[in-house]
Amino acid sequence: MKLKGWKYVISTVAIACAMTSPAATGQVLINAITGQPLDLTEGREEGRDTPAVKTFLQTMQNPYNEDEQALVKGRSLYNTACSGCHGYYGEGKIGPALNNDSWSYELDTDKGLFEVIFGGADRQMGPQNEILTQDEILQVMAWIRHMYIGEPDTIFWYTDEQLAKFKPFNQEDYPHN
Ligand code: HEC
Repeated sequence: MKLKGWKYVISTVAIACAMTSPAATGQVLINAITGQPLDLTEGREEGRDTPAVKTFLQTMQNPYNEDEQALVKGRSLYNTACSGCHGYYGEGKIGPALNNDSWSYELDTDKGLFEVIFGGADRQMGPQNEILTQDEILQVMAWIRHMYIGEPDTIFWYTDEQLAKFKPFNQEDYPHN
């Protein structure tokens, strides 16, 4: 009887937790080249259990999208780690452009974008998980989305509210520094 009581308490708590946390999609992150599940124990150890990473892994949506602080950090990280190959404004250089929807991989979801950055793709696009933590990858992703110059009807990664505020990126707002 006593045990049953505890079980009831535990299952009630579990249900309450499930109700308050964002909807889990149950989707599995995969390597863009091999199709095998990504090993999230690879790469940098820090920055794996931040609230943003936890939310992302549950919802497969980047909670840093259009977050002001994350954009500042993401921009700086992007300029250091990515702009040499992808261009200062994501316009493309050695690597393809990231600021429009002419991409080769399934980048129209945050899941697809994370998969390529964490696990890598072909040619010089190696896994970035030794360079950036998972939390930093989400910050860089937010900045990449912010630099988007495509049409609003090609955007699938923003919430309705974010989409309503969307304006194509204007380089003049972010002079080269
Ligand atoms: C040494 C050059 C190099 C660096 C540094 C680099 N990339 Fe790449 N990236 C590439 C190349 C080349 C490709 C094309 C790979 C392919 O086609 O499989 C690519 C592809 C990609 C794609 C997929 C584009 C598409 O069309 O689907 C994304 C997203 C991406 N890179 C993001 C990043 C981010 C974010 C960083 C920094 C953390 C980064 N890359 C750093 C060279 C680089």
